Amino acid sequence: MKTVRDDFTILNRQVNGHPLTYLDGAATSQKPAQVLDRIRAYYDRENANVHRGVYTLSQEATTSYEGARAKVAAMIGAASAKNVVFTRSTTESLNWLAQGYGFNQLEAGDEILLTQLEHHSNIVPWQVLAKATGARLRYVSLTDEGEIDLADFKDKLSQKTKIVSFAHVSNVLGSLAPVKEMTALAHEVGATVIVDGAQAVGHFAIDVSDLDVDFYAFSGHKMLGPTGIGVLYGKTDFLEAMTPVQYGGEMIERVTLEEATFQEVPWRFEAGTPNIAGAIGLGAAVDYLNEVGLETIADKEEELMAAALSALAEIPDLTVYGPQDAKNHHGVLSFNLAGVHPHDVATVLDMAGVEVRAGHHCAQPLMDYLGIQSAVRATFAFYNNQEDLDRFVSALRQAREYFV
Ligand SMILES: Cc1ncc(COP(=O)(O)O)c(C=O)c1O
Repeated sequence: MKTVRDDFTILNRQVNGHPLTYLDGAATSQKPAQVLDRIRAYYDRENANVHRGVYTLSQEATTSYEGARAKVAAMIGAASAKNVVFTRSTTESLNWLAQGYGFNQLEAGDEILLTQLEHHSNIVPWQVLAKATGARLRYVSLTDEGEIDLADFKDKLSQKTKIVSFAHVSNVLGSLAPVKEMTALAHEVGATVIVDGAQAVGHFAIDVSDLDVDFYAFSGHKMLGPTGIGVLYGKTDFLEAMTPVQYGGEMIERVTLEEATFQEVPWRFEAGTPNIAGAIGLGAAVDYLNEVGLETIADKEEELMAAALSALAEIPDLTVYGPQDAKNHHGVLSFNLAGVHPHDVATVLDMAGVEVRAGHHCAQPLMDYLGIQSAVRATFAFYNNQEDLDRFVSALRQAREYFV
């Protein structure tokens, strides 16, 4: 019987003489053949620039590019495709928000509220903005389980809070933010809510309209799509309040020697030739996710996480960070073996073909909070299986025997 694994050719390769066990989907997911085939088909049959040609090829490319926008919008529950801006990545989406939206909104003394568990992409753009505007950055602390402390969130929200930005799922702890509740609370004080969905989209169903967030950012390459394509979702009036960060072709309406007027949103933000193949590939990734089913994906990831958590609980000297319950431990599992450097653990695992990430995971303030410098992180995706888990656990036991 055909399984989803058959769609991921890379999973057939060997690494260091062992079958590849890819457990780093949080850094970037593997890509199914359907996505790769669609990108190839675009270049093979439709390659032309978008929005510019009256000729057939350009119209076909435009239809595919705009079709991808509509697919993304439908998957995240956006009111319209016009609420979806194509960017390069989550990082670019968040930078555009800081520079193009935050810069217009903030005055000295205003507050930007983040949390202690954010990825550097959701910290540094706000630090730079705070310096430029005189706004103050504040951080919500975490509970012992590694979840956002709602009581502290409520305490820190005030009329001064103008922007609240936080990760839907932590890329280190796997914990899920109560987005709907936090959004409602932030809206009560009139703050704009931005959610970093890099580790959420493609793992379970998301409805931005139901969550009522004002902006939502994510990356194509973490949800089976190609690198170099990302998304910034925004409610219409919020996108209208945002200034483009880049200017040039495609985004204009009329240009004279003195000045220019701009296209309506979202095209106003997509200056120059966009990543056409990337967007079309992302559209194919959305089709694929829908075909497998986000519920099936969420169930499979939770099942693997539950098995991983109980297997790791049996290994002495091992600390798992974040919630210990698979239901609130989405995708990623970060841990340390006492006295062993995470890079050493990852190197021994790699010798057994098991690819995991070791380091600070672009979340140094969270590492500080946890009192560590780095950790090992394994990601369980729906295309992983029990054999992957077994190889991972056995390599981990070997690493422990070797070093401890
Ligand atoms: C929570 C989170 N936010 C943002 C990012 C940045 O994503 P990208 O590098 O695709 O811009 C990542 C990537 O690891 C992430 O995990």
